[in-house]
Amino acid sequence: MLKQTLINATFAGARVLQQYFNGTFTVSSKSNINDLVTQADIESEKAIFEVIKSEYPDHFILSEETGELKSSSNIKWIIDPIDGTVNFANGIPICCVSIGIEQDGKMILGAVYNPFINEFFFSERGSGATLNDKKIQVSDKADLTRSCLVTGFPYSYLDVPNGPLEVFETLIRANIPVRRLGSGAIDLCWVAAGRFDGFYEHNLNAWDSAAGFLIVEEAGGKVTDFKGDYYSLYQPNLLATNGKIHEDLLLAINGKWKPIVL
Ligand code: IPD
Ligand code: CA
Ligand code: CA
Repeated sequence: MLKQTLINATFAGARVLQQYFNGTFTVSSKSNINDLVTQADIESEKAIFEVIKSEYPDHFILSEETGELKSSSNIKWIIDPIDGTVNFANGIPICCVSIGIEQDGKMILGAVYNPFINEFFFSERGSGATLNDKKIQVSDKADLTRSCLVTGFPYSYLDVPNGPLEVFETLIRANIPVRRLGSGAIDLCWVAAGRFDGFYEHNLNAWDSAAGFLIVEEAGGKVTDFKGDYYSLYQPNLLATNGKIHEDLLLAINGKWKPIVL
């Protein structure tokens, strides 16, 4: 069954993270010196692939370190074998395995597991979202100025109007706490669990957001791009909130919010 294979694959990847964490592993760079890939990323991906291929050898796979394994299947696995690799490489236990499944272009299942604090987030479309088998839901805070937010920054400085630093500055000048955990998948799940009221990031990839996108939606949240249109994994900008602060945070991201500074 697809759901059980997803769970098995997520846990197989996570066992690799546990095996290498704080140990010895090779590290190399990708797009720039601080964009890392470790031996654990590669081994986690391999373990995940083994589980999927043993049950569903014909499914389409999109995975961060391998790219696309194309097929004509209408089921696509979207895999981040470690989300939070810089944290992982530094022994910071804020990282996870994130796997989402699309059917005919629509997210239907998502799983995110951080083995270091034993948090397993899961969602099946139409069935809500859970953390360690308990239902979760987004917060109900309606005032952006009283919100607790999280964001992330791309590996390479993004020099665009209303870029990551400008938006961060707008929010920090309004005295709003904005955290940076270093794992987009965990950021999304923590919005779903009501710990954060909103998360935004410029330049995410499909594997960062696939599972978390569904988990936030199924926890009652709202996910769009920076124009306010329904989110697509295949464009870079993501805004996920409890729904109530969405419009104001969208204005802030576009440099159009007029805060009342408390
Ligand atoms: C990164 C993390 C980080 C985000 C970056 C991502 P990686 O993924 O999700 O929080 O800010 O944009 O690339 O490289 O650790 O899989
Ligand atoms: Ca990632
Ligand atoms: Ca990754």
